[in-house]
Amino acid sequence: MRIKQRVEEVFPTPFWILDIAPEDAKAFNAKLKTEIESMIEPRPNVPIGSNLQTSHDLHTRPAFAEFTKLVEIAAKSVAQYLQIEQYPMMITGCWANINPPGTYHPTHNHPNNYLSGVYYVASPESGTGLVFQDPRPTSIAPWTGKLTRITSNAAVQQPQPGRMVIFPAWLRHHVPTNDGTTDRISIAFNLMFTNFAETVAAPRWKPTA
Ligand SMILES: [Fe+2]
Repeated sequence: MRIKQRVEEVFPTPFWILDIAPEDAKAFNAKLKTEIESMIEPRPNVPIGSNLQTSHDLHTRPAFAEFTKLVEIAAKSVAQYLQIEQYPMMITGCWANINPPGTYHPTHNHPNNYLSGVYYVASPESGTGLVFQDPRPTSIAPWTGKLTRITSNAAVQQPQPGRMVIFPAWLRHHVPTNDGTTDRISIAFNLMFTNFAETVAAPRWKPTA
């Protein structure tokens, strides 16, 4: 008999990467770094290994207006990709993280939001990446000798100053220990539909009567 087999890949988990040209990112990041460090100065006494975080209202502060605009531009592009431009979204929180050497960020996701993102202001030379964990329950995964997007149970995005990564807010992720000698400085944010109940939540099926 003649047979034909094909594969279909479904349920993708996209994340989006935006890179500012290095020559443009330099001055932009220098300003952001100064602003962020001034917000956490003097640095509080926190337990060894702890991260430092600012308040989560950066998107409302004039000093971060240009950054907020960048998030809006990136989010619009994501909405276009997902074909959901008709549903307005807003930034619900935006904060800066300082991860000194020796610190890490444990596994988490960002509840009550649709998209989340991170932007790298500074990263150590040997910067460890942002690790996304496979959301599928892969309890059986024979080793094939090669890590591919089919065989891996994690996906890593390498940080680089001027890079923004946007991902589904439900996707669990962590940041391994900063094994460099300088701070990793990032700005994180969440995005949610502005009027979720009004614009998104109603049933999609059409009543028969
Ligand atoms: Fe996160």
